[in-house]
Amino acid sequence: MASDERSANGVNTPGAEHRDSTGDKARQSRRKFLQSASAIMSTPFLPASNASAAASTPEQLPNPPSTRSVTLHVNGEQHALLLEPRVTLLDALREHLGLLGTKKACDRGQCGACTVLANGRRINSCLTLAVMHDGDELITIEGIGTPEHLHPMQAAFIAYDGFQCGYCTPGQICSAIAMLYEAQRGDASAVTADARAANAVLNDDEIRERMSGNLCRCGAYPNIVKAIASVAGKKSGERS
Ligand code: FES
Ligand code: FES
Repeated sequence: MASDERSANGVNTPGAEHRDSTGDKARQSRRKFLQSASAIMSTPFLPASNASAAASTPEQLPNPPSTRSVTLHVNGEQHALLLEPRVTLLDALREHLGLLGTKKACDRGQCGACTVLANGRRINSCLTLAVMHDGDELITIEGIGTPEHLHPMQAAFIAYDGFQCGYCTPGQICSAIAMLYEAQRGDASAVTADARAANAVLNDDEIRERMSGNLCRCGAYPNIVKAIASVAGKKSGERS
């Protein structure tokens, strides 16, 4: 037996004492670790939001959003509203004025279902705030026509079967009406052959390009194009 080993009678050799002191340190650090862990475990759990709230003094809490007075002129009627600044025009129309014809689909400017006219221009109402349209003249599908007196674009969509489920149709019709005025005004599109021409010829390619911001999940595009082309043809005839 080596001189630094524990002897058979249990007497520690100098080497064995060294290992015992190392073991004591290990036990102590293990005990400290367990004490720290139990202290952490005994701390009441607070969700992140509550924890930050607990750390905040009342002065640091955010104020509730204040409301602003907004006057919207919608379909010829004036509406005085108190709205939070974060309310989109789409939500103001649907939730505050009950005009459910304007549809919410993507709510992020990708489908055109929420298209309305603001001062004669088509916009995605989900991408703009209601407070930005204080005093603007707004037209939604409810102001385009009535069942007894359909707008020519509405009548064309029916005549050419330009819809299936109809969810995208209010946005398609508002967009198509504004698009015809844009073309009449001489606005060029990405497929316009001569951008300097006074009036673009609204062939199928032009209509498809200019209506590309309005998606139809039912795929009614061929008939939508026919419907718009029929109205554009009438307008071309009227202009010449
Ligand atoms: S709901 Fe506004 S663009 Fe889709
Ligand atoms: S008719 Fe159904 S989404 Fe266009």
